Amino acid sequence: PPLDTLLNLDEIEAAATKQVSKKCWAYYFSAADDLYSKTLNNLAYRNILLRPRVFVDVTSADTSTTLLGHRVSTPLYVSPAAMARLAHPDGEAGIARGISRFGAMQLVSHNASMTPEQIVANAAPGQIFGWQLYVQTNRAKSEAMLARIAKMPEHYKCIVLTLDAPVPSKREHDERAGIEARLLLESSKPPEPSSSSAGAGGSSSGGGADKTNKDNNKKPDSNSGVGQQLFFGTAADLTWETTLPWLAKHTSLPIVLKGIQTHEDAYLAARYAREHPGTVRAIILSNHGGRSLDTAPPAVHTLLEIRKYCPEVFDTIEVWVDGGVRRGTDVVKALCLGAKAVGVGRAALWGLGAGGWKGVERTFEILQGEIVTCMKMMGARNLSELGPRFINTRMVERD
Ligand code: FNR
Repeated sequence: PPLDTLLNLDEIEAAATKQVSKKCWAYYFSAADDLYSKTLNNLAYRNILLRPRVFVDVTSADTSTTLLGHRVSTPLYVSPAAMARLAHPDGEAGIARGISRFGAMQLVSHNASMTPEQIVANAAPGQIFGWQLYVQTNRAKSEAMLARIAKMPEHYKCIVLTLDAPVPSKREHDERAGIEARLLLESSKPPEPSSSSAGAGGSSSGGGADKTNKDNNKKPDSNSGVGQQLFFGTAADLTWETTLPWLAKHTSLPIVLKGIQTHEDAYLAARYAREHPGTVRAIILSNHGGRSLDTAPPAVHTLLEIRKYCPEVFDTIEVWVDGGVRRGTDVVKALCLGAKAVGVGRAALWGLGAGGWKGVERTFEILQGEIVTCMKMMGARNLSELGPRFINTRMVERD
């Protein structure tokens, strides 16, 4: 259907579902085990109610803010998500093009299907990115990538270190698609050693996961999905004591810790930031879109914990969140709870699947429009006015 007939993010996902390959759909849609965290990510927002105020002149509403000191026009950003070219040849560069008129930041996955250089090659001059790192068992590979990113300081503004996926998770939709493709292949011709159907084919990433390193991780078996294939080579031995000093030695960019899921770890991140200025500057409260550990908490719950037990975290480092965002009201609610920025993972990929870069543009147009409408309806004229007075969290605090 024409993109301008799609009115919300669910309709964009439905359109993309019809257009992308089965393997792509299964990889993007999938989440761990029973998809409970994936579902709850969005439900948590549904269960926060708004408290709109009246008699406020809302002729205009300003959604601009700063992230790590860089001005952005919207608190929305693109979360790092692997393999955009599975959905559309425009790939990660298409996401950059799609968001260009919204002044949003884009985080590029370690397992992107284009190299970090290709992604910025045609990016708008002011487009800012972050690069996401899965530390490799072979640290030299990670160091080489960090050196490449350092050569593009006009575009890459932070290193996002993902922590919530130390081992591969069980994503049955993704695995099932791999199994079905293998069975289909086996029924048509004799088995081939390289026929692992769900392999990350088409990845041209110069720096993605090390898919040949056999040192640490068990080679994925022939039942594995795309996620497990990409995981190959990723280190499971990260610690506060060893990993952050190593990373700070190999990058001078601000470090963003992604996948914080408890107030304890948020506190430790803020403490680390205070004790080591110029290293950790932000955390992302995320359960990886429900793709890592099922029944792990949605960002909303972690935000509420931090507010209760260590609110000083919000003054020490920036707190970003992602997971389950489908409406502008979701974004505004996260901001009211103290988030500085809100990421979308699948939404950007579904936009790409629905119509290439223009589908991403349509996705952002819808979400950004909903954010502005929500702010005006609530009587908020800029993001700094947002706060807990605008929301009622009784229903989430009960669940
Ligand atoms: C992801 N995510 C992810 N995160 C990360 O740090 N590195 C990665 O390579 C990927 N890859 C990836 C692929 C796909 C297909 C998805 C859907 C997600 C997680 C991502 O950054 C983000 O945390 C979630 O997508 C947020 O949830 P929503 O917006 O998808 O609900």
